Amino acid sequence: MRTQVAIIGAGPAGLLLSHLLHLQGIESVVLESRSREDIESTIRAGVLEQGTMDLLNEAGVGDRMRAEGALHHGFELAYAGRRHRIDLRELTGKSISVYAQHEVIKDLVAARVAADGQLFFGVRDVALHGLDGARPSVTFTHAGQAQRIEADFIAGCDGFHGVARPAMPQAGREDYQRVYPFGWFGILVEAPPSSEELIYARHERGFALVSTRSPTVQRMYFQCDPKDSVDNWSDDRIWAELHARLENRDGWRVTEGRIFQKNIVPMRSFVSTPMQSGRLFLAGDAAHIVPPTGAKGMNLAVSDVRLLAAGLDDFYRRGSSERLDRYTDDALKRVWRAEYFSWWMTSMLHTFADASPFQRELQRAELDNVVGSRALATALAENYVGAF
Ligand code: FAD
Ligand code: DHB
Repeated sequence: MRTQVAIIGAGPAGLLLSHLLHLQGIESVVLESRSREDIESTIRAGVLEQGTMDLLNEAGVGDRMRAEGALHHGFELAYAGRRHRIDLRELTGKSISVYAQHEVIKDLVAARVAADGQLFFGVRDVALHGLDGARPSVTFTHAGQAQRIEADFIAGCDGFHGVARPAMPQAGREDYQRVYPFGWFGILVEAPPSSEELIYARHERGFALVSTRSPTVQRMYFQCDPKDSVDNWSDDRIWAELHARLENRDGWRVTEGRIFQKNIVPMRSFVSTPMQSGRLFLAGDAAHIVPPTGAKGMNLAVSDVRLLAAGLDDFYRRGSSERLDRYTDDALKRVWRAEYFSWWMTSMLHTFADASPFQRELQRAELDNVVGSRALATALAENYVGAF
């Protein structure tokens, strides 16, 4: 088989790249190890920056997002018994949308299928070859058959645990990492929204987040031990924890409902550089991870592929590899700002078991500064909506 760009991974990065390339008249093949049903139902991110929404709209895959996603013009920071609103629209002129990642995936798969795009699900044994030459190739097994794709470029969009990053030559690589001593316990609940806007809460018992998915399904998270098991958490224990962390004397209550999904996600910050080696380019979680506080992960995957698609367009249309050669530098500028922001939000809102009383007071003073200073609130809001 021959194509122009072989894409490994059908997450937001791989599928959107394939779709953008198609709009530019560039052929690609997407290889995904999981089934279509699996990728279309895995619960992950929920917050789309304005720039992500704009790109999905421009690419013609925003109809359902516009109809079913909820626009949010602000969110709340809760701590020390009070809630404070961060008015995103007033501070930045921009908003965000809550629309689940697996719905974005469904929209992108539908668009690729409608355009007769080549997608292989359930592939095994993906291996990359000839990365330093002009004709790299990928071998894999599909439905029991060994296959080979020859391509001009390979895009490694296969997430943190994929095969593309380890296939890069190790000489000259630099990895930056921080693993946090906590995780997020996430639940999906059948209930009406507890709040019109997201609530990020800092409490002595740990961080908690009230998010939403639809008028009938809600998403909530709370800080937990990353090694804990969901089996240790009965529904009653989860509700007791959320009530304790989120409620105070103002009378607002979390609305309970049937919990139909529970999961625990570990938290890390990670950047691997460079994001290119010869004809192999990494995009999204394959190259970098942020802790989820601040909701940057999927948005970063989208901004990487926007750059990569533009670079490939220049290559095929004008014969110029200038933008492709700059890909690592251009992508990392945004990546590091998002790394900083996600680390900041995480540090400001979670409890650290080893924090001294002095550090705990500083944490509270930082929150006081953010909600009390228009300049700091604007900095937070600009980062949150992705205005950089
Ligand atoms: P992935 O979505 O991981 O996709 C990679 C794909 O590659 C997968 O489908 C995988 O099966 C496939 N694959 C892996 N290995 C191979 C292989 N060897 N061969 C073939 N295929 C392979 N981000 C936000 O922007 N906003 C949020 O609100 C947000 N909330 C989050 C909440 C949680 C609980 C979690 C866990 C994450 C959240 N994120 C959020 C992060 C976001 O989900 C990720 O950053 C995003 O999925 C990255 O997209 P990707 O396409 O790079 O990688
Ligand atoms: C969601 C996830 C996040 O990481 C976040 O900061 C806000 C919302 C969500 O899944 O809804």
